[in-house]
Amino acid sequence: MTSKRAVVVGVGHYLPERVVPNSEFEATLDTSDAWIKSRSGIERRHFAAEGQTTSDLATRAARAALASAGLQPDDLDAIVLATSTADLTFPSAATMVQAELGMTGGFAFDVQAVCAGFVYALANANALILSGQVQRVLVIGAETFSRIMDWTDRSTCVLFGDGAGALILEAQGGTGANSDRGVLSVDLNSDGRHRDILYVDGGVSTQTTGYLRMQGKEVFRHAVEKLAATANTAMNKIGMTSDQVDWVVPHQANIRIIQGTAKKLGLPMERVVVTVQDHGNTSAASIPLALSVGVQSGQIKQGDVVVTEAIGGGLAWGAVVLRW
Ligand code: UT7
Repeated sequence: MTSKRAVVVGVGHYLPERVVPNSEFEATLDTSDAWIKSRSGIERRHFAAEGQTTSDLATRAARAALASAGLQPDDLDAIVLATSTADLTFPSAATMVQAELGMTGGFAFDVQAVCAGFVYALANANALILSGQVQRVLVIGAETFSRIMDWTDRSTCVLFGDGAGALILEAQGGTGANSDRGVLSVDLNSDGRHRDILYVDGGVSTQTTGYLRMQGKEVFRHAVEKLAATANTAMNKIGMTSDQVDWVVPHQANIRIIQGTAKKLGLPMERVVVTVQDHGNTSAASIPLALSVGVQSGQIKQGDVVVTEAIGGGLAWGAVVLRW
């Protein structure tokens, strides 16, 4: 049987120049490098420069992904951009990237599923390819969470960072078997009853930008259980087991969540790509950043089975299994 697959043909990322070590927070907050490192695994994060916006970061990551694929902007049919921190209320950050790249055709739109945004964007891009609407789609995760931090709240502001990562998916023929390259399985979930444990207390309708608010312990409790469940569901859908997985590329929020989920999945940490120490939690950007770093460092190679999983505000969570 022949079937269509959405295959990764390019990957890239961009991190803003400014690197902020944990110690920088010690001057203004009752916190310490030791606390942040031991409770979250984070050692440093990047913050966008004044005036640098999410679409700026996204465009740079997009250019890196195009270069790695050897493609031009007009080779793309669509852009799907995952973000919760778009430059403006509208137009979408995706259309801004489209203009910046000089892409004159196709279409572009944003996806908002907070930290699960990239998994949602990947699922949408995969569906666009499988339905025959596009041949090539640029999938971006980009955030400037530094813009929604309450700098007096030590329980949140030390955890997040800015950045962008991008993939290019291309329609290719497959056999329908798990040996195909490309997206093999998707699992998406949300449960709006958990709105109050992770949200921003502002938005267009309230006429304020607002700040991120999080009951960290509660989110943590949901995270390990739901991440392992969604990864297992995505694997079960295609009859795959964790011993067939080469790399888990998790959302990078907390090293303890990453370790707990890997343990539940029965996978050693040697098979997990970890960037949380260098990037902090970059929400929708964290998975494509980790994929790009994982490829650059020589960890992820063509043919490897990669499982991505993420959870964030909503709660929204999900997983994608793909063969690189
Ligand atoms: O990406 C979206 C998903 N988000 C997440 O996955 C985040 C999930 N949650 C977490 O990662 C963790 O819950 C945190 C890193 C946010 C917090 O770790 P924790 O082990 O759950 O700590 P806690 O919230 O229970 O706080 C323990 C103590 C508290 O003091 P008391 O009440 O025990 O006296 C906090 O006030 O640590 C205190 N604390 C801090 N101390 C120093 C909270 N933040 C800080 C800080 N520095 N920055």
